[in-house]
Amino acid sequence: MCGIVGYVGYEDVKEIILSGLEKLEYRGYDSAGIAVINEDGVKVFKDKGRIANLRKIIDNNAKSNIGIGHTRWATHGVPNKINSHPHQSCSKRFTLVHNGIIENDEYLRSKYLKNVKFESNTDTETVVQLIQKFVDNGENVDLAIRHTMSEIKGSYALAILDNENPEIIYAAKNKSPLLVGIGKGFNMVGSDAMAMISLTNEFYELDDKEFIKITKDKIEIYTIYGNKVDKKSYKADIDTADIEKGVYPHYMMKEIEEQPFVVRRIMNEYSDDNGKPIVDKDILSDVKNSDKIYIIACGTSYHAGLVGKQLLEKIAQKPAEVIIASEFIYNMPLLSKKPLFLFISQSGETADCRAVLVKVKKMGYKTIALTNVKGSTLSREANHTLLLYAGPEIAVASTKAYTAQITVLSILSTLIYNSLGIDIFRELSIAANVMESLCDNADIYKDLAKEFLVGQRSCFYIGRHMDYFVCVEAALKLKEISYIQTEGFAAGELKHGTIALIEENTPVIAIITHESINLNTRSNIKEVKARGAKTLIISMKKISTDTDQIIVDNVHEILSPLVSIIPAQYLSYYAALQKGCDIDKPRNLAKSVTVE
Ligand code: M6R
Repeated sequence: MCGIVGYVGYEDVKEIILSGLEKLEYRGYDSAGIAVINEDGVKVFKDKGRIANLRKIIDNNAKSNIGIGHTRWATHGVPNKINSHPHQSCSKRFTLVHNGIIENDEYLRSKYLKNVKFESNTDTETVVQLIQKFVDNGENVDLAIRHTMSEIKGSYALAILDNENPEIIYAAKNKSPLLVGIGKGFNMVGSDAMAMISLTNEFYELDDKEFIKITKDKIEIYTIYGNKVDKKSYKADIDTADIEKGVYPHYMMKEIEEQPFVVRRIMNEYSDDNGKPIVDKDILSDVKNSDKIYIIACGTSYHAGLVGKQLLEKIAQKPAEVIIASEFIYNMPLLSKKPLFLFISQSGETADCRAVLVKVKKMGYKTIALTNVKGSTLSREANHTLLLYAGPEIAVASTKAYTAQITVLSILSTLIYNSLGIDIFRELSIAANVMESLCDNADIYKDLAKEFLVGQRSCFYIGRHMDYFVCVEAALKLKEISYIQTEGFAAGELKHGTIALIEENTPVIAIITHESINLNTRSNIKEVKARGAKTLIISMKKISTDTDQIIVDNVHEILSPLVSIIPAQYLSYYAALQKGCDIDKPRNLAKSVTVE
């Protein structure tokens, strides 16, 4: 997590860094800071809190054409002013921002830095003190940074200022993302393209263990051993309008309402000249040649994976298993003979997924990244990429990525083997229309959220079959932005223990979209009602009753998650809104979880 940005050029750097950091705030927002160098030396401004707060504390002494900035998601040390980045070496010669985790920082402190007085509790300070130490020992700056890179274990994207070389930004990367933005008369570094896109759309992607020096008109990239690297730049096709909120009060609302368009865009991107579904033939052949698909993901992407398993097994008759990335890495299941690994990740940067990718690649297995971000770490490192085409997802709570993941997986499944004989584009078009009509009639969720959720301590989502998988995602959505403790439960499992938690007025939201489980889930609703629960039912029209509060138009049952999640997303949004929560930046979270 954490976002870093640096600029060296001809313009005043303060606004460039601040607006770059605002674009990176989704990566963490505990604290923020910037450092610049001008004729008075290095100036550092930092504090706990958001970029908006940082803006208030920066004074006119920040005038400069070179600077680095940071927005933090705390790992080592509480979020306070001292632990905020940038950090400085004891002589104040070097100033550094860091995204990642230094795993051997205690070892390095005791080996090299025993006599150094540390100011913060961060692992990052070790890096900047180590660079200083190696320079004090007689190494030149380039060597000292590369030497430091070779000593540290863990993940890092670093941007470094040297007071004695005030025209250069030094940078380095390992496991954490870092891009170089190529400008005319200026150059930049940043955690992602969005931080730089208003100034340039041309970038170099950096590989692990690369070391970079940028001035306003020169970019030099080296390996950790000091060998020069020649790279091809690429142009990012990000529409700046896509990363603005526009008329919407929150990104989350914008992204919920984009979902029908995203489904249609995916159909367009995955269609041939005759409008028929198509997926890269090498991907299809690798999938077909495998005997089982292992889906690896975290959070919402994991929940999309649960639905994906159903699609692969029910449509394509391809066995699939879904495993949380952080569990797989330490507890690998017994693998089939010809496994294929499918990584689902909106950002393509999730460290837990990457750890698995590195491991299974070493084992020689084929990998696919299903991601929203072209050029992301997972996309670059996997054998194949399936893109989501959802457009940038900025709100921490994932919405359109979830439905995009399911959409792409449904197309892939039918192309592997269409055992149900589905006309997938026809069914997806129907689903997109239903999604759109749900968005057009979203007013009802405000009152329902008020009646059922605001003021509640806990809540349950219950469902069976595919509805159960939607319930776990719906529960995550509600808890992460409204802080109401919510669990998604298999409706039939409730009576085996959890029903003990049902009290007078406990909200229980049921999702019922499959005919085969309709009556069973309705029996479970009666059971909780009999114990005082306040029930809210989201059902599909063909099996709805007059008393169901939210009725969703019919779609093919196998695609029901695409539509039944939408009321749940709105309920979460309005519950959080009415509770006064920070919807796009919920507490303790970050959008991209780039640390294990
Ligand atoms: O970028 P990824 O899809 O790999 O991210 C995975 C999770 O961190 C993410 O889905 C997270 O659970 C969201 N906050 C959920 O809304």
